[in-house]
This record gives sequence, C-alpha cells and structure tokens, in this order.
Amino acid sequence: MAQCKSVLVFGATGLVGTHIMRHLLAKKARFDRIAVFTSRNTVETKSEVVAQLKAEGVEVICGELTNADDVKHAYEGIDTVVSAVGRNMIERQIELIRLADEATSVSWFFPSEYGTDIEFSSKSAHEVPHQKKLKVRAAIRGCQNLDYSFLVTGPYGDGDPGLYFSSNTGAEEAGSFDATAREAVLLGDGNVPISFTTMNDVGKFLVLALLHPAASRNKVLKVNSFTTTDHEILAEFEAQTGGTSWRTRYTSIDKLKDLEAAAWTASNPLATLFTLRRIWAEGGTLYRQRDNHNIDAEHVVDTLADAVAAAILVQAQGEKEVKRKLT
Ligand SMILES: NC(=O)c1ccc[n+]([C@@H]2O[C@H](COP(=O)([O-])OP(=O)(O)OC[C@H]3O[C@@H](n4cnc5c(N)ncnc54)[C@H](OP(=O)(O)O)[C@@H]3O)[C@@H](O)[C@H]2O)c1
Repeated sequence: MAQCKSVLVFGATGLVGTHIMRHLLAKKARFDRIAVFTSRNTVETKSEVVAQLKAEGVEVICGELTNADDVKHAYEGIDTVVSAVGRNMIERQIELIRLADEATSVSWFFPSEYGTDIEFSSKSAHEVPHQKKLKVRAAIRGCQNLDYSFLVTGPYGDGDPGLYFSSNTGAEEAGSFDATAREAVLLGDGNVPISFTTMNDVGKFLVLALLHPAASRNKVLKVNSFTTTDHEILAEFEAQTGGTSWRTRYTSIDKLKDLEAAAWTASNPLATLFTLRRIWAEGGTLYRQRDNHNIDAEHVVDTLADAVAAAILVQAQGEKEVKRKLT
C-alpha cells in the first residue's frame, strides 16, 4: 500500500484547515514535503499565519483555485491532496479532483467532508445541504487513478460562532450554550444522543488516516471524539462555570422542523444550519460502528470535559473580540 510522503493542503488557513495543519506539522518528520495551496488574497490578509507556516517548513504555493495551470503546477511531485475548502467552494473540488486524476504523481485525495455522513440513510440523498458533497463523492469514485478517503466526523464539538458548543447567536432556537449569559437552548427533550468530533480531533484523525493508508484508502472513515446528549453537555458547562444551574429552554424537533422549513422558504442562509441540526437531533450521527480503532485513534481523542473547557475559552475570546471592535 502506497504511503503518503508529499501532501498538498487546500484551505490550510481556514477554520478546520488550521487544526489539520497543526497536527500535520506535529508529525512533519513522517513526510518528505508538506505544501499548501492558497490565494494571493490569503497571503496578503493572513500574512502572519502564512509566515508561521513557512517558518515551520511548509511550502506555500500561491495561486487561484479556478486556474487549472496553477493547480497542475501545485500537484507536481505531490502524492496526496487534502482539501479543507469551505462550503462555498465544495463544487469547485470536482475540477480539482479531475486534475488530480490526470496528474502523474497524485494518487490519493481527501475531499472537504469533516461533517455529517451524507450517505447515512436513504433520506440523506434528498437533504439539500448534502447535494454538493454527494456530487464530489460521485466524481471521485468515477476516477481512474485516484484513491479517496471521506473523513466523516459529525458536528464539531467546539465553541466557535455557529458551532454546537457556542451561543449560536442569531439562531439560538436551533440549540445554544451561552457560557457568559449562562443560558442554554436544548433540542428535543435534551436526551438525544449526538456524536461529536472536536476540530482538534479532526486534525488528529486526518493525520492518522494519512499514516494508515491500508485502513483509509477508498474508505468512508467514520470517527468521533465522544457521543453525548444536550443534558450532559449542559451539566458539564454548569460544572465548569461555577456549579449552579443555567436558565434552560427547549426546542422540540417539530419546532426545529418548522424553523427549518421557514428558513428555506425565506432563502435564509441559516437554513443549512437548521437542517443539519435537525439531522443530528434525529440520530443522523449515530453510526453502527466507528473507525477510530482502525487508525490507532481509540485512546487519543478529546473528552466532553476537554471540549467544554475549550469552548468556554473560545466563547470568552469571542466576547473580547467584539468588545475590542466596539471600543
Ligand atoms: N462538522 C461541522 O460542524 C462543520 C462545521 C463547519 C464546517 N464543516 C466542514 O468543514 C469543511 C471546511 O469548512 P471551514 O468552515 O473550515 O471552511 P472555511 O474556513 O470557510 O474556508 C476554508 C478555506 O477555503 C478556502 N476558500 C474559501 N473560499 C475561497 C475562495 N473563494 N477562493 C479560494 N479559496 C477559498 C480558503 O483557503 P485558504 O486558507 O487557502 O485561504 C479558506 O481558508 C467544509 O467541508 C465544511 O462543510 C463542518
């Protein structure tokens, strides 16, 4: 089984890409080359991040994702491509995959997944937010010379804006844990099990997948950090924020479905978030088995307590950012 020695990352400075890079760099001795492909705009607007990557020995290749020559040039000598592009660029990967299939050196491609299992059940094929990722899976499965890995992580157990362990400002009814206001909105009866992966663990799993090609190539890898319920998450937040009870409300699954339908009708950009939360609350993250053990990740994952501690810090930092901007 071919090993991954030269890896190129798309989306390296993005939300999850940053975590992937941190874990790749922690294992850089295992690779001959680590390169990132990024736009001129990112090189200018995130110059400190780019300088840090270069200081760590990362090759920074500047180009446009929409320019085939730039991408072909970046693929030279690369055996594995990891994409962590954001939702707005998902479909663009079909061309990146076609070019990777043509490139002589590239043999393995991780498209930007890192979320809900888009082939969980027969219903999954009809979920609006899955459509572009389903097209990407079809494109890569049709390739002649390219292996794939789809890293399925479920929702992120993190406190960054809009993620499950955040206050979810603007869409609180779809679930919220606000560590400052000490308020929560729980889904269903609060006892629905959901399987989460912290973004820290997404980076860890991705690198372990690269290092275990026999277990990862041409596989849908279903991984997670922990499975828990809203009540258990709330109890952990309460324990870590002074031990007293938070003000708590509930959104029934029917109410969530109404919010989802109204958001799609109004072309509200939050519609995707409502749909994903409804899928998670209906059990769409509860896989029959997980693949952590296949890539030696069984004992290295974050716990619920780790995730909540990190989320409290991230939420507090977010508040500071807002105050800084206001003063
Ligand atoms: N499971 C969950 O709860 C969850 C939550 C959020 C996202 N996700 C998934 O995680 C994956 C990555 O999402 P993300 O939120 O981390 O992405 P992101 O931060 O929005 O974007 C990642 C990167 O995509 C590249 N990019 C975006 N727009 C571009 C453009 N117009 N031209 C060129 N490059 C562009 C940029 O790369 P550079 O760094 O090179 O500039 C950017 O840093 C997606 O598949 C998403 O669905 C999952």
